[in-house]
Amino acid sequence: MSEQILALTGIHKSFNLGTQETQIIKGAGFSVNKGDFMILFGPSGCGKSTMLNILLGLEPPTKGEVTFLGKNLYSFSEDERAQMRKQQVGIIYQQSNWVKSLSVLENVYFPLTLRGLPEEERKKRALEVLAMVGMDQGATQNPAELSGGQQQRVSLARALISDPALIVADEPTGNLDSKASEEIMALFKRFNEQGKTVIMVTHDLEYLKFASRSVNMVDGVVVGEYGANDERLGNLSVSKRGNLTKEQQV
Ligand SMILES: Nc1ncnc2c1ncn2[C@@H]1O[C@H](COP(=O)(O)OP(=O)(O)OP(=O)(O)O)[C@@H](O)[C@H]1O
Ligand SMILES: [Mg+2]
Repeated sequence: MSEQILALTGIHKSFNLGTQETQIIKGAGFSVNKGDFMILFGPSGCGKSTMLNILLGLEPPTKGEVTFLGKNLYSFSEDERAQMRKQQVGIIYQQSNWVKSLSVLENVYFPLTLRGLPEEERKKRALEVLAMVGMDQGATQNPAELSGGQQQRVSLARALISDPALIVADEPTGNLDSKASEEIMALFKRFNEQGKTVIMVTHDLEYLKFASRSVNMVDGVVVGEYGANDERLGNLSVSKRGNLTKEQQV
């Protein structure tokens, strides 16, 4: 049996908007096994990013449990959760977030700075991960000089620098054209094949083909789970171009 990395069970999350409490996540859950390429999809506002924040230990659920590497994540303090994240997780967002005064190389090894590794060691490791995403040539540049696709490659390198077990990505191709998106997805696929577990939110149903498991959320609940090559996924992609059912609107 595959080893479970993460399990979210019976998750509820409410936010206080003014004086009113609004339920955003309404009893959602899923689990992720080691080696999975898990894609979370669903319409805008259904709660995908909120679920990622909850599983990353950034946002405690109102109710429900998150088990990360066999431990109850929210039994740990905020600082302990931050440590766990730093050691075990690489995170990528739609928009790269750079320290503008630093070069590509320095941005990539920045997460290692706090670990007390010698500078030469950090540089070597940063060049290694930049080479893994085909960006070692751009090491001395400023990140702002790079294209969107190149910046996301560098984001991926930065996420990989601590050799995390898990990569979590929230619409990493959301700002990219289709060619750059395909290249980024191919990199995720390669790293997944090399053993990294991936959890990704995407709007693009075309990318469900990369997933070993896909989870469809609608309005704060999970409405469907699909395995790799699940024939129902074919229907979803076709429906994308035709009339969408509520579940299929992403
Ligand atoms: N910190 C917060 N305070 C109040 N409301 C929030 C907060 N975070 C999220 N929400 C609300 O929760 C709902 C779900 O948001 P979430 O960002 O999880 O959706 P999403 O599925 O990621 O959408 P998208 O595809 O557009 O990124 C939205 O209505 C959003 O306004
Ligand atoms: Mg989102």
